[in-house]
Amino acid sequence: MSLKPQQVIINGKYQLLEVIGQGSFARVWKAQEFDPQGNPLRLVAIKELKRAGLSAEVLREQELRFQREIQVSARLTEAPNVVRAITAEQVTLEDGRQVPLLILEYMEGGSLADLLKRHPQGLSVAQAVRYALDLCAALEGLHRLDIVHRDVKPSNILFRSLDGQARLGDFGTAQVPGETVGGSRTWGTAGLQPGTPDYWPPEQAWERARSIPRRTSMLWAACCSRC
Ligand SMILES: Nc1ncnc2c1ncn2[C@@H]1O[C@H](COP(=O)(O)OP(=O)(O)O)[C@@H](O)[C@H]1O
Ligand SMILES: [Mg+2]
Repeated sequence: MSLKPQQVIINGKYQLLEVIGQGSFARVWKAQEFDPQGNPLRLVAIKELKRAGLSAEVLREQELRFQREIQVSARLTEAPNVVRAITAEQVTLEDGRQVPLLILEYMEGGSLADLLKRHPQGLSVAQAVRYALDLCAALEGLHRLDIVHRDVKPSNILFRSLDGQARLGDFGTAQVPGETVGGSRTWGTAGLQPGTPDYWPPEQAWERARSIPRRTSMLWAACCSRC
């Protein structure tokens, strides 16, 4: 049971248009939002958890991850250069199950991963510096709030079409204040480390220590992402 293109959800508030992205955990839809009178309001992105084929244990873990993302996103209304969450909703699927959705500002420019696919030879120095500065501003703002993203990489860096600004998204593995570093209070299966091995800094790959990733690891990942 899952959502479908053209489906109208949440009492006519959104119409799903097409899937615009998928990560390991989630599917992201482009959707039209309507006002209470049924007039088109704006385009939004709607993120749902991918559920098909997951064991009950893994699904539980992913649901916790998504809850974390919804909670962290709600705290980032003022942080610079992060993808804004508009709200969270619950949708009832055909089988009667209620599942959460995260409604996000629609980043029309797509991701840095998409951009790099279109430019396999790399970006210009001017472009790379601009995006790196955007990303540094995002990391500075997050670290001031004691939040460590833990999965900075091209598919989580998105572009706003208005001014081309790069914004950091996907807070599913973010570390929040009060959580033990790299700890498993809300991060799942024993032995798994948050993040993506290709973007881990060397000390994280070598040590496999519970004490990482730290803030500097995010700077490493940002540099690996700049291409
Ligand atoms: N707000 C958004 N606007 C446009 N595209 C998005 C948005 N959020 C995510 N995407 C697309 O969906 C992909 C997967 O989203 P992401 O949040 O990274 O999912 P996951 O948690 O599974 O990694 C992104 O790489 C991007 O291509
Ligand atoms: Mg992602």
